[in-house]
This record gives sequence, structure tokens and C-alpha cells, in this order.
Amino acid sequence: MSEEYGLLDPENAEEPGDEWEEIDVSDTEADRIARKRDREFSQFRERVKDSDQFKVEQSVFDDATLAALYKLVQDGYVQAFGGPISSGKEATVYSALGDEENGEVAVKIYRINASNFRDMREYLVGDPRFEELGGDKKRVVLAWVRKEFANLKRAIKAGVRVPEPLAVQRNVLVMEFMGNDGRRAPTLADARLENPETAYEVVKEYMRRLFDSGLVHGDLSEYNILVSNGELCIIDVGQAVTYHHPNSGEFLTRDCANIASFFQREGLDVHGDELENWIRENADPEK
Ligand SMILES: Nc1ncnc2c1ncn2[C@@H]1O[C@H](COP(=O)(O)OP(=O)(O)O)[C@@H](O)[C@H]1O
Ligand SMILES: [Mg+2]
Repeated sequence: MSEEYGLLDPENAEEPGDEWEEIDVSDTEADRIARKRDREFSQFRERVKDSDQFKVEQSVFDDATLAALYKLVQDGYVQAFGGPISSGKEATVYSALGDEENGEVAVKIYRINASNFRDMREYLVGDPRFEELGGDKKRVVLAWVRKEFANLKRAIKAGVRVPEPLAVQRNVLVMEFMGNDGRRAPTLADARLENPETAYEVVKEYMRRLFDSGLVHGDLSEYNILVSNGELCIIDVGQAVTYHHPNSGEFLTRDCANIASFFQREGLDVHGDELENWIRENADPEK
């Protein structure tokens, strides 16, 4: 049915589980490196600050963010930084060269001083994984990044195609780069769809699998789905909430409305409420 858009075989999906352990947002190695300011880190910092790739960001990259990048380089997750791919409200995404195994990677760097950090909190409150979180801005952002990492893992286990998360360090997430022959993958909004029916079936099944694993994306639309080498890939899962979240129902309704309205514009006779009903009838998030 959906060969064309590379629907993942659920046989390859693992059981959900271990990422539900408590998420620690205490001081990280990067904070310690930033405080210590040894000579090598200072050199790294100067190099990054002078490089073209980071020119626009240098005023917002604090030392601890630079230390997080430094740590990722030291640990071998990143060998060299490419240019920015996208600059959004809370984060900038860069391409980078990863280790030998992973090749090109995407590096998503969150700003600690994100203007809409209050909105972020709403997604975290009510999630059993973040119950202990206070109102501290830095902690919220750090938890957010860890949550994105955990959500990506959970999505993979559920059989949903997302970028593979590779490393997280403070406010920086390294993940598989989604591209087409080295060029970044277009979003569903930018890609020309030859077969919207099949694409819809794949997105619908991924939404069901996500919900079945107890997650609701919460910001799903044609802008957070990439078309990479013939596969549809769901991204931007930082705000995804568990089924227990007080607003999860509302988020699911909104996700379904966004997806249905995109595919309506592609000529399909689909409706958000029907999509939602189908997902609810065919998933068991409480199991
Ligand atoms: N893993 C990835 N591989 C390639 N491009 C990516 C990847 N993740 C994000 N991008 C690019 O960066 C953009 C923004 O990423 P996203 O995670 O949606 O962040 P934002 O919160 O800013 O919307 C995407 O639309 C996509 O073009
Ligand atoms: Mg996005």
C-alpha cells in the first residue's frame, strides 16, 4: 500500500519503555566546562565565534552553549559545523559533519532565552516525566531538549519515521540529517506530492502509532513533516505530550485538523474529525 512513502514496518519497531526514566536537568558537563574555561575551550570558543556559520548567532550563544558544542566535538558526535538550515523561534538547526558512521547530522540548538518559554512550560506541566520541574528558564529549556530526545526515541520504538536522535548535551540536540543526496529534505509543504493519497495513509498510520505509544505530537502540520529519499519523516517532537497531559485531546484534535486541511488542499476528501475518530478507535494509549 504505502511502499512509495516508505511506511516503516512495525515489525522493526521495539517496545516502548526505558526512556521514561526520570529526566535529569541538573548541571551538565557543558556547564562545568564553561565555568572552568580551560585554554582549549577558549580556543574553540574563539574559533566558533569567528566562523561565518555562527556569525548571526554569536550574540545569543552563551558560553555554556559553546561548551555544549565543544563537548559534542570532544565526544566525536560532531567533527565540523556546516551552515544554518533553519532559524525558528526557539531553536536554530545547523548541518554538521558527524562521526564516520553517521556522516552528515543535524544539530538543533535551543536558545535559553527563548521568548516563548512560557508556552514551553504549558507543554511540560502535566507530563509525568517533568513533574518536579520548577519555573527556572534554563531548566525548562534543558528539559525540553531532553524531552525531544526521549520523544524521538519513543517514536522510533513505536515504528514512526523520525530523525534518529544521536546525542543531547545541555541545549543542543544532535540527530540524523534528513536529506536527499546531501541537500536538506523539503517539508511536506514545499515538496511536490505525486501521490497524496499514499502520503496521507502514511501520515495517518504514523499518527495512530504515535498515539498508540501514548504520545500526541502537538504541533503536527505539513511544516513538521519532511520528505526525505521517498520517506515521510516527522520532526519537531519537543512539544509532544503524553496521553496523560490535560491538553492532549485538544492537541490531537488540532493535529488532525491541520493534517486533514493540508490533504484537502491536495484534493483529498478527508476530515479532521474522521481522522481523529479513526486514530482513537484504532489505538490504545492507555495500555
Ligand atoms: N533532522 C533534520 N534533518 C534535516 N533538516 C532538519 C532536521 N531537523 C530540522 N530540520 C530543518 O529545520 C527546520 C526546523 O526544524 P524544527 O525541528 O521543525 O524546529 P522549529 O522548532 O524551529 O520548527 C525544519 O523545517 C527542517 O527544514
Ligand atoms: Mg518545526
